[in-house]
Amino acid sequence: MHFEDSLAFATKMDRKDPLKKYARLFHRPRFKRQRAIYFCGNSLGLQPRAVSKAFRQELKEWKNLAIEGYWNAKHPWLFYHDTCKPVLAKMTGAGLDEVTVMNALTVNLHLLLTSFYRPTGDHYKILMEAGAFPSDQYAIATQVKLHGHKPSSAIIEIAPRKGEKLLRTEDILHKIAANKNSLALVMMGGINYYTGQLYDLKAITAAAHKAGALAGFDLAHVTGNVPLRLHDWKVDFAVWCSYKYLNGGPGAAGGIFVNNANSNNARISRLGGWWGNDESTRFQMEKTFRPKTGADGWQLSTTQVFNMVALRASLEIFKKAGIKKLHRKSIQLTAYLEFLLQKLKHLDFEIITPSDPEQRGAQLSLYFKKDAKAIHQQMIDNGIVVDYREPGVIRVAPAPLYNSFREVFRFFQILESFKLSES
Ligand SMILES: Cc1ncc(COP(=O)(O)O)c(C=O)c1O
Repeated sequence: MHFEDSLAFATKMDRKDPLKKYARLFHRPRFKRQRAIYFCGNSLGLQPRAVSKAFRQELKEWKNLAIEGYWNAKHPWLFYHDTCKPVLAKMTGAGLDEVTVMNALTVNLHLLLTSFYRPTGDHYKILMEAGAFPSDQYAIATQVKLHGHKPSSAIIEIAPRKGEKLLRTEDILHKIAANKNSLALVMMGGINYYTGQLYDLKAITAAAHKAGALAGFDLAHVTGNVPLRLHDWKVDFAVWCSYKYLNGGPGAAGGIFVNNANSNNARISRLGGWWGNDESTRFQMEKTFRPKTGADGWQLSTTQVFNMVALRASLEIFKKAGIKKLHRKSIQLTAYLEFLLQKLKHLDFEIITPSDPEQRGAQLSLYFKKDAKAIHQQMIDNGIVVDYREPGVIRVAPAPLYNSFREVFRFFQILESFKLSES
């Protein structure tokens, strides 16, 4: 890719961008009466403009139809989550029956661990990446305890080599193979929230299966960011949240994937609730739980319609833009950001995210040995929205659905000016 550090070049890139029209479909936070540079879609995606209307629609249905809304609303609430499935299935490479929307990420992780972490005899260990998102660490440690094991012996953490910040795929695969006699599950993030490293889900899943274990992933930072092929890669299960790249809004209902090789396996046990029961018998109020086929068989409670309204509106945009096209733009946008950041010799930081586009999504993690918080504050003071994660990392994530090359260039110019203000 050929890049130039000029506004003219960034403008040319934006003009050529076939997805540029989608940016207008989102509200922008403002800073000192100007549009903020929002590179924080990896934490909370922006609000699609269509959301207000979509909420008004559901409020109207509730007002006018009340209980009848479950059957007679424009998007009947009984099946509201179904409306999100086609786009989610496409972006995750899943069958329609392999995905669903419910609860929130950590709750779903617990639910799926209940089914897919079934320690038996010597096979009771879970392999995960060291430095996984804390909620995942807590979920896994408490699940292990629930089964009467000690986290210190049942959890195998894989860390980067001494002096390195990223995991090497060969090390992950080797660690899985080396623990084949005790492993029950490999449970990793898809993209590590701190480093931005995208793991090789296909190779990890194959290695887990070869070792007689199952493979599950937390895709919070992947879904809506990098296209996946979960079914073909034979991933056993996955969870994600909807408020990052999917723009589902704060606390939006999360998503799950359950490979239909598992959901069709009657021996796999699960926790039951009436929303996981087939609709045809759900309201007969029978004693026996008859799980629905597919991922929906893990549903427990009444669909949280209002927690899915924004997600639904956002997925309509994804449907039009297409995840593959978005990813193509994302590769360029992030590479342009990287190209410009490398020119900032006066700021002492290291980009710890892999430079290989196959090993990352939209996010670049900038590691500052010192003054990271002060620099983050300076960015905020200049109308840049990015987030800071301990220790020392500022995460910068241009989202291809609503960010532009010009914004990346403006971000670079602001950081360039930090030198001027210091001297
Ligand atoms: C990688 C990752 N896992 C898990 C979570 C927790 O998600 P939730 O609060 O929806 O359970 C987050 C939240 O940001 C996350 O980034």
